[in-house]
Amino acid sequence: MPHILLFLAIAIITIHRAAIAQPLNTSFRPGKKWTDTNGNPIQAHGGGILFYEGTYYWYGENKDSVNAPMVVLPGWSVDRVDVIGVSCYSSKDMYNWKFESLALPAAKNNPESDLHPKKVVERPKVIYNRITKKFVMWLHIDSEDYKAARSGVAIADKPEGPFTYLGSFRPNGLMARDMTLFADDDGKAYQFYSSEDNKTMIVSELTADYLKPSGRYKRIFIDQSREAPAVFKHNEKYYCITSGCTGWAPNPSEYAVADSPLGEWQVKGNPAKGEGAQTTFNAQGTFVIPVQGKANTYIFMADRWLNKELKNSSYVWLPLQVKPDGSLEIYYKKEWKLSEFTP
Ligand code: GAL
Repeated sequence: MPHILLFLAIAIITIHRAAIAQPLNTSFRPGKKWTDTNGNPIQAHGGGILFYEGTYYWYGENKDSVNAPMVVLPGWSVDRVDVIGVSCYSSKDMYNWKFESLALPAAKNNPESDLHPKKVVERPKVIYNRITKKFVMWLHIDSEDYKAARSGVAIADKPEGPFTYLGSFRPNGLMARDMTLFADDDGKAYQFYSSEDNKTMIVSELTADYLKPSGRYKRIFIDQSREAPAVFKHNEKYYCITSGCTGWAPNPSEYAVADSPLGEWQVKGNPAKGEGAQTTFNAQGTFVIPVQGKANTYIFMADRWLNKELKNSSYVWLPLQVKPDGSLEIYYKKEWKLSEFTP
């Protein structure tokens, strides 16, 4: 009898383990269903990555609600989902992501709050401030009809949050929609945002605590209607990859290079090459990840939006190569590993 009980106990433990253990991912599979280490679909759209003390943190929009289109005019509606909040995942290898928290949750019961489910909370980005030792999140805050065009700021003591929401404003008094943050090696940080009805991009230096614009800013890509900025630095040059302005529908990307964030930005063309380049491989950029410990190794991080089912939008991460002449190339790969990266 004790043997049978022992056998049953072992069998139950084995079945239980098999049910919860997820196979380890060993590659990137753009556009496929990406699940976290608990087996749940990753909800981190329009996201960005922070590397802190040996761990990558991925912040993005949790869009796990049903589409609730906003009718702008009779017969014309904009696809959107109610706000759930900003998710945070962590990983050491970038293939396997552990859900950490809903780092900035929606304010469900306060219709006045920027974080109420009926508002727009998009493209969160987090940087670490070495002086204040705070993790600082900026994000696009909008009204349901996208008319408010503001930036929100939240801070935390730990990368996984919880983040305390400080409020929103129009940076430099100007409209702000799609945005990113870039922290330079000298400790200065910048917000890049689509402004002036999305026609012009602004590069705006932040104050030393990263909580506000310093007042120094520059208008770039004037009347070019660029969105979804993703910024990185390589060999003392600054790169900004943007999308065109076609809502959830994909379009060709474009990159520009400058000698300093507030300097002259020179537009160079589409970094995407080969088949699918005209739609950025059916995706829209959101961030460029510098792979730690590997020289000249960057990942172009993009979203393949499913506009009628936004929660099932997928992630398209691809190797980004900086060629010896400073030009950028992104090719599509169905499946790839960091080990095969040849910059
Ligand atoms: C895109 C933008 C997204 C979202 C969408 C709404 O152009 O990049 O972040 O705002 O429009 O239609």
